[in-house]
Amino acid sequence: MKAIRMHEPTGIGGLVYEDAPDAKPGLCDVLVKVVACGITHNELDWPVWNCRAGHPRSSIIPGQEVSGVVAALGYGTAGFAIGDEVYGLTDQLRDGAAAEYVAVEARNLALKPRTADHVTAASVPRAGLTAWQALFDHGKLAKGQTVVIHGAAGAVGSTAVQLARWAGARVIGTGRGRARTLATGLGADEFIALDADRLEDAAGQADLVVDTIGGDVLMRSASLLRSGGTLVTIKPDRQLPADRDDIKTVVFVQESDRVQLAELARLIGEGQLRPQVGAVYPLAKAAEAFSAKAAGGIPGRVVLQP
Ligand SMILES: NC(=O)c1ccc[n+]([C@@H]2O[C@H](COP(=O)([O-])OP(=O)(O)OC[C@H]3O[C@@H](n4cnc5c(N)ncnc54)[C@H](OP(=O)(O)O)[C@@H]3O)[C@@H](O)[C@H]2O)c1
Repeated sequence: MKAIRMHEPTGIGGLVYEDAPDAKPGLCDVLVKVVACGITHNELDWPVWNCRAGHPRSSIIPGQEVSGVVAALGYGTAGFAIGDEVYGLTDQLRDGAAAEYVAVEARNLALKPRTADHVTAASVPRAGLTAWQALFDHGKLAKGQTVVIHGAAGAVGSTAVQLARWAGARVIGTGRGRARTLATGLGADEFIALDADRLEDAAGQADLVVDTIGGDVLMRSASLLRSGGTLVTIKPDRQLPADRDDIKTVVFVQESDRVQLAELARLIGEGQLRPQVGAVYPLAKAAEAFSAKAAGGIPGRVVLQP
């Protein structure tokens, strides 16, 4: 099969479009014929060069967000049939979906949202699961609370804005000034342009901060919280603020969850969640796609198509 592979952890420059061994479904796997694959611009820098058993990987296929059609089932796989349209998040320590086929554990897949095409569906799994888990599993967001969402036009942020709004929260989005229209259009009640406004004007207002930016923005975020509030960041490589002992701080990496994928599909079907696809590239142009998204300014998710 054709695939995008990287043979050494050299970043975007190491991506090659080439023939790779055919993906084969293992125990309880589904073989998915990939129609679309979502990428995260900095995923090539993540610690993914060992498999779960700890053995080094000689190459990786990136792209863990997949939407496609079930082509075959592995030994003992139940719950799906050949021809089903599915979407989901592949295990980061296995070959991903930037390929013509990918083998995925059945538990990491759900039926594709009926009203979304494959490109749209492929933009959802990581962004949707991360936003859901940040807001509800870790942030315990409740109706009537105020949440600040940093990076509100990004893939995770734009999803979080819509889910928080759906949950009945007051939403303050942040980002560069150019993100304002999208963030407010998706449901943010207010928007703070980090390159023009003062973040500290929102001091003490939030029950929850969801940070997708990290760095200086994360360090300045403890002050936004009321006493008892929660600061959730998805940037595990960054230093956490330690200047408040009356708030909770959570850093996490998203997990796949079939029930949450099904719930996200339901919300898309109801029109409560509008996934944001910023750009679509052919699979062979994956390096260009990673570079374009990393350069900034493309809202939502970048999607590849074999
Ligand atoms: N821990 C986890 O489970 C998890 C899961 C998913 C993603 N992540 C990580 O979380 C981050 C966000 O992911 P994503 O897919 O949502 O990325 P994304 O689509 O690039 O979103 C990031 C958003 O933040 C904005 N932004 C970045 N730096 C900024 C700054 N200094 N000031 C103002 N706005 C800024 C970006 O704007 P521009 O485009 O204009 O730069 C973009 O709109 C990535 O680093 C990703 O690797 C972690």
